[in-house]
Amino acid sequence: MEVIVCDSAAEASRMAAGRVNAAVRENPRLVLGLATGSTPLALYKEMAAACAAGLPYRGVTTFNLDEYIGLPPDHPQSYRRFMDENLFKQLDIDPARTFVPDGMAPDMEAYCAQYEAAIRDAGGIDIQILGIGSNGHIGFNEPPSPLDSRTRVVRLTEQTIRDNARFFADASEVPREAVSMGVGTILDARCCVLLGFGANKAEAVRQALRGEVSEMCPASALQRHADTVVFLDRAAAAGLG
Ligand code: GLP
Repeated sequence: MEVIVCDSAAEASRMAAGRVNAAVRENPRLVLGLATGSTPLALYKEMAAACAAGLPYRGVTTFNLDEYIGLPPDHPQSYRRFMDENLFKQLDIDPARTFVPDGMAPDMEAYCAQYEAAIRDAGGIDIQILGIGSNGHIGFNEPPSPLDSRTRVVRLTEQTIRDNARFFADASEVPREAVSMGVGTILDARCCVLLGFGANKAEAVRQALRGEVSEMCPASALQRHADTVVFLDRAAAAGLG
């Protein structure tokens, strides 16, 4: 695991974007795994800036990690809407190549198998962008999440509901379930790029990078991944010693 500690989240995001944009330059048909949350926003701005400056994203395919169950795609807090607003609209990407799990699918079990098949059919994910939850989750793989889990329906923990309540009118409006790529799905990506910013991530980052590999800290599974790069700001790296 390569760990890069930067003076600021802005600098870390620029460096991570440098890697993503270089990969798109090298392979215009790159398959990217994408995350939501506040963490990747600056990275997405850098990707959009590169596209505006002439880097074509039109051949790129994207798969998002997760979506809330029960939120329609146009709901202000759906992850589909988040991605459209914060990235896809700023890129020349073909909307048909942007996959975000459907939180309204009538048969979730069949839908999850279909999502896995779509990733496989696209040739697998080349670079998976990840944030980290304050409880060590990646995607919506809450502790405990089996390290070989695949795309499935998950129940959100109270901590995640509290963390994400800031985006909703109050905690009671946060969906209790989500559909998420599994830890195993994430580990299948050829390269993982984990971003962690701020003091509230320091403990999760410490456990993920220095703790034992355990389903109680799903991000720790990345220790078993052959090509993972972690970009941190100083506050998030504080527990690494
Ligand atoms: C959310 C998402 C994760 C994200 C995490 C951290 O619940 N499901 O993919 O990495 O929580 O969010 P933030 O970046 O806003 O701290």
